[in-house]
Amino acid sequence: MEDMSHAINGRTFNSLLKVENVSFTYEERTFFGAVRRVYAVDGITLEIKSQEVIALVGESGCGKTTLGKVIVGLYKPTSGRVLYKGKDIWKMHKNEWRIFRQKVQLIHQDPYQALNPSKTVFQILSTPLRYHRIVKSREEARKRVEDLLRAVGLKPEMVLNKYPHQLSGGMRQRIVIARAISLRPELIVADEPVSMIDVSLRIDILNLLLDLGNKLNTSSIFITHDMGLARYYARDGRIAVMYLGNLVEIGPTEDVIQRPLHPYTKTLLSVVPVPDPKLARERKAIQLRSLDVPSASNPPHGCKFHTRCPFAEKRCSQEKPKMIEVEKNRYVACFMVE
Ligand SMILES: Nc1ncnc2c1ncn2[C@@H]1O[C@H](COP(=O)(O)OP(=O)(O)OP(=O)(O)O)[C@@H](O)[C@H]1O
Ligand SMILES: [Mg+2]
Repeated sequence: MEDMSHAINGRTFNSLLKVENVSFTYEERTFFGAVRRVYAVDGITLEIKSQEVIALVGESGCGKTTLGKVIVGLYKPTSGRVLYKGKDIWKMHKNEWRIFRQKVQLIHQDPYQALNPSKTVFQILSTPLRYHRIVKSREEARKRVEDLLRAVGLKPEMVLNKYPHQLSGGMRQRIVIARAISLRPELIVADEPVSMIDVSLRIDILNLLLDLGNKLNTSSIFITHDMGLARYYARDGRIAVMYLGNLVEIGPTEDVIQRPLHPYTKTLLSVVPVPDPKLARERKAIQLRSLDVPSASNPPHGCKFHTRCPFAEKRCSQEKPKMIEVEKNRYVACFMVE
């Protein structure tokens, strides 16, 4: 077995959660009664350490949200395992499961769905506290909710009795974050937490998440399609790049940005503006063979990227490359890099 700790930027981490060869397939009935399968997540292995920050990046539809939901236990993997502190979450006893669901929190992609429109901010934030018995009385709940609101930069007296629709998008997202941290999680999976927020406020919200993560020693997985935001958020952590249900590259953020190894990561980065002219010159745009992303219900054989990859050879259409550590801490799934 591999070791349970590793060092990035001189910091050592212990394993918190691991997905092991996890797949998730949606099954839909078509209009004509046939079953259509969508291979949204296909054999992913990823480990997140205690206090680690990971950005999960990839284009729309590559399976980021599905993987996020598998990680927090909302979806049961079609195959593979999710281990929390070494324990298979789908074999947990009721009490272990309750603790797991408390310690691993998801911030949903859609902030409008996330908050119950008929509840006040106080009700939204106090209900989970009461349910998980973090507070024992209404007074205690009130005090704790006020502390939480202050922690996310809101004035309690201004928002406590408001309904979600009475708040701005930025304020709503702060409430969502307050709720996620209220149960003192060890891992937060934040699915595109700023995509619906004004550009001017995005960095504030990301800074808030990072800051709270540091104070509370929480790990986080930040899901985004935006390489620039991934680079910012995970500057002290790792980037994991996803393509059509697979991970294709994982490594320390700045390493991956400066020197991407997988052809897909190179294409993703070639469309990101870089302030560094030297880097921009070195990073010549690579020409894709095709601009079309294949469908997740009928994915290509072998390496899923081979239909678009300018470097693809015969082998790439026949065999699926494994994720291997090609350099220290740099994992890539590509025959050309091996
Ligand atoms: N409930 C569902 N039923 C059937 N297919 C689904 C369902 N949800 C997602 N899919 C499909 O699964 C694949 C992965 O979707 P997912 O939402 O996980 O991607 P994503 O990377 O989060 O995309 P985005 O960046 O647009 O949020 C896509 O092909 C999508 O169409
Ligand atoms: Mg999504």
